[in-house]
Amino acid sequence: MSKVVFTAEQLQVIEAPPGNLLVSAAAGSGKTAVMTERLLERLIRGEVSVDHVLILTFTNAASESMEKRIRKRLTEAMEEARQDGRTEVADRLREQLLLLSRAHISTIHAFCLWLIQNFPHEVVDAAAEPLLEADFSTLDPEAAEQLRQEALAAVMDRAYTDAEEQPGEQADVFLSLVDNYSSARSDQQLRKLVLNLHNYLRSLPDYAQVVSKKLTELEETCRNFSASPHMRYLVQGLRLRLDRALAVVPELCRRLEDPLLQFAGKTAQTTHEDFAALFQSLFQTCQAMDGVLERWEAEPQKVAVWDEIYSLARGMEWKKPRVMKTDSDAKQTFVELLVKSFSDLLYYVDASGANPLGKQCIYPAQRVWTAPAEEIEEAHLGTLPLIKRLFGLVLELDEEYARRKGQRKRIDFADYEHFALAVLRRPDGGDFCRSQFREVYTDEYQDTSSIQESILQAVCPDKLFMVGDVKQSIYRFRNARPETFLQKSADFKDAKGGRYFGLNRNFRSEAGILQAINEVFQRVMARDFSGIAYADGHAMEVGRAGSRTRGRVELWINLEAESANLAENVTETEAAARDCLPP
Ligand SMILES: Nc1ncnc2c1ncn2[C@@H]1O[C@H](COP(=O)(O)OP(=O)(O)O)[C@@H](O)[C@H]1O
Ligand SMILES: [Mg+2]
Repeated sequence: MSKVVFTAEQLQVIEAPPGNLLVSAAAGSGKTAVMTERLLERLIRGEVSVDHVLILTFTNAASESMEKRIRKRLTEAMEEARQDGRTEVADRLREQLLLLSRAHISTIHAFCLWLIQNFPHEVVDAAAEPLLEADFSTLDPEAAEQLRQEALAAVMDRAYTDAEEQPGEQADVFLSLVDNYSSARSDQQLRKLVLNLHNYLRSLPDYAQVVSKKLTELEETCRNFSASPHMRYLVQGLRLRLDRALAVVPELCRRLEDPLLQFAGKTAQTTHEDFAALFQSLFQTCQAMDGVLERWEAEPQKVAVWDEIYSLARGMEWKKPRVMKTDSDAKQTFVELLVKSFSDLLYYVDASGANPLGKQCIYPAQRVWTAPAEEIEEAHLGTLPLIKRLFGLVLELDEEYARRKGQRKRIDFADYEHFALAVLRRPDGGDFCRSQFREVYTDEYQDTSSIQESILQAVCPDKLFMVGDVKQSIYRFRNARPETFLQKSADFKDAKGGRYFGLNRNFRSEAGILQAINEVFQRVMARDFSGIAYADGHAMEVGRAGSRTRGRVELWINLEAESANLAENVTETEAAARDCLPP
């Protein structure tokens, strides 16, 4: 294979001075190639030693191929140096080759296991109590799940028995929780919810504290909804929808003047003027809402934004015009544009559920402004004890599961991460890692979970090289948090905390394919829908020389296979989990 000639933008990444560097790039743009090349260049130039770097890949196979590649290139460089009579360089590279077999090139789980095995005495909780038996072994994912479910069964049995033996407020809360989250026949739904929440919590560092903090916040929200971050978030949702609708108002007003646009006749309104008046009143209400939001945005404490919007929405009179096949094009396109632009907004603020545009929403919609703030507070306060009990169950499950693992001297994959973080927070393990690992390289960074991010930060907070593609984040079910990637991208773009690099040239596919992919994704990936705006620097450029655009590209969407795929994904999950096992 001929040697890769890196592009100028790739070279910028390869040669950037060490620091926190994030490379955000599409599939096939050479992320892995650039990461490997950067490391190699630094090794060959003697800027870092291979035993002083930590290289994290997503699978064992990727680790192996990365190591092979490094070995091959170091060997070539060593021979070249020897032939050129650069003995010192050749000797250094020979040493690097010897060190390579001890280098840390692995998945993050294998790295965590290495930490635990090397600092077992530092696997302790906050009270310095040991968390790990000397002769522990790892539960395979199926056995872990089985044990977790048994632990949950014990927790639920205990809760039912307690409710029966000690009737009272606590018992009532538990029983309403069961009532609210289960069907008449079984409490499977509630059990599933507890298991899922537990799974999610385990992907966070210090989750017990997180739960207690979040519950306190939730309590505050419930007691004072109007001043809560939750309400602010909902108002921002309104702002988004309102802006989208208001942007088309001038166009709609212009079309209303079109002589070909006539609403009178077979529809409920007798004259076109009636309709025009109805639209005008809709637009005016929206403008009034805009005014409320503007005042609130300027002085949030002074405006009862929730209730003001609520009363505007309640006062809104609205009927959807009927369209017949025989209607003029002008009318059809007017109604189409109106529905497209306003349905989401109207549904969002529709307190009564009577809005005829509600059913027309393109994206999954929700009714949000369903009651005045005071009523919402009351309802929230009513559910608060249930939510607290729910999280109580999750933490009881966690304890019971930990107890059962302890009895069997077993740990699971999430324990790898939590125990590794415990080690990194202790003096021996933490100091060792920070002095040992001068640089960290991590591939597929978009699939990093919160606790994994904490581990990376604890190992090397200032020389982290990350490559990834947020569009390829497929491991949400494994608690990957692409949000971290997006946040870092935004910060680094503003030169806050690191440097950002984008690579958009694709070297894997032909021009025609890339064109088609860009075409599709520019339409379906928008920021307010998927969190990522494809148009905003994600489109792929052709990287292959002499790439062809001829030929037809067909897009096959196999809806039937979707459900089969889901089933397959489960086995894929298991396979992926197994793949994280250290070799
Ligand atoms: N500048 C380049 N010129 C030619 N081929 C390249 C270039 N950069 C990367 N490649 C090749 O493109 C392919 C995809 O690279 P890879 O690093 O696997 O991409 P990614 O990790 O972004 O998906 C690889 O075969 C790689 O060798
Ligand atoms: Mg890659």
